[in-house]
Amino acid sequence: MTDTITIRRPDDWHVHFRDGAMLQSAVPFTARQFRRAIVMPNLVPPVTTVDAARAYRDRINMAVPDGIDFQPLMTAYLTDTIDAGELARGAEEGVFTAVKLYPAGATTNSDSGVTDLKQVTAVLECMQAIGLPLLLHGEVTDPEVDIFDREARFIEQKLIGLRADFPELKVVFEHATTKDAVDYVLSQDSHMGCTITAHHLVINRTDIFKGGIRPHLYCLPIAKREVHRQALRAAATSGDKRFFLGTDTAPHPVHEKESDCGCAGIFSAPTAMQVYTQVFDEAGALDKLEAFASINGPGFYGLAANEGTVTLVRDVVEVPERVETAEGEIVMVFRPDAGLNWRIMA
Ligand code: DOR
Ligand code: ZN
Repeated sequence: MTDTITIRRPDDWHVHFRDGAMLQSAVPFTARQFRRAIVMPNLVPPVTTVDAARAYRDRINMAVPDGIDFQPLMTAYLTDTIDAGELARGAEEGVFTAVKLYPAGATTNSDSGVTDLKQVTAVLECMQAIGLPLLLHGEVTDPEVDIFDREARFIEQKLIGLRADFPELKVVFEHATTKDAVDYVLSQDSHMGCTITAHHLVINRTDIFKGGIRPHLYCLPIAKREVHRQALRAAATSGDKRFFLGTDTAPHPVHEKESDCGCAGIFSAPTAMQVYTQVFDEAGALDKLEAFASINGPGFYGLAANEGTVTLVRDVVEVPERVETAEGEIVMVFRPDAGLNWRIMA
């Protein structure tokens, strides 16, 4: 049995840092685990300009603990009316690494998102031409569509057409939750990437109701049946270049989760690498962890893999159940019910 594993320093290709006191609390957890992170732009108001992204990046950098070498990679929030020139300038100036598409109404702070892909044709053409990746929240928003089917419908109704119209556009299918998404990504060329969260590798939809309703396991896209979780585990641990690490760590104050209309999001930053390592260990695939966590993501984005390494050790670990922010808000930390048995070596 392998009891330690050393890999190149990993990156997280999908995080929510929020702003203000929450940002101050959230950033150090990600910065301690990852060398770089793709930062989601769904603030209120959303990050739609180069200036806003630069200022947000400065606030994130200020929250990185001393002595930690961490780089936030910024994204722009795609709206129906955003100007392609602004995105191109942001990419040119090294501010925007990617552009995030939220279908309007799909999830937290997505009201300003895209109402119809036709609205953004010129922008997508520009992104395709300059090699700026599009990151997709892949769910349809039609309230008639069952919540557990929204990802699969998105692939059929939106993604297949999008890929046909923009075959050279780099597209990341974010936080995949279904076998449908895995199979689709596997059918595509190297312009298609896919992130997988730690929590979707651990929980299925039944876990959300284990012993009662578990608001801290509610996120979007919602966890699906066990057959889908198994497909995600197979994809992540396969070593295939199209799949890479993206936690979708999404802190919300406890009072907003434990409510009559609790919001979506799981805060996994403090436990992410431990959970991923545990999953790869269970799958007998520790030799593929480095590809998923540290190599495939930079490869897709055309960046160099990180220098330096991190070592994880098999060990029973206590992780904080909750984190308190400077404004007194409390956030629950994602932990598998079975506990954690990998620790990051200091
Ligand atoms: O669960 C989620 N939380 N899914 C998302 O797409 C957004 C995120 C958030 O911002 O809280
Ligand atoms: Zn997200």
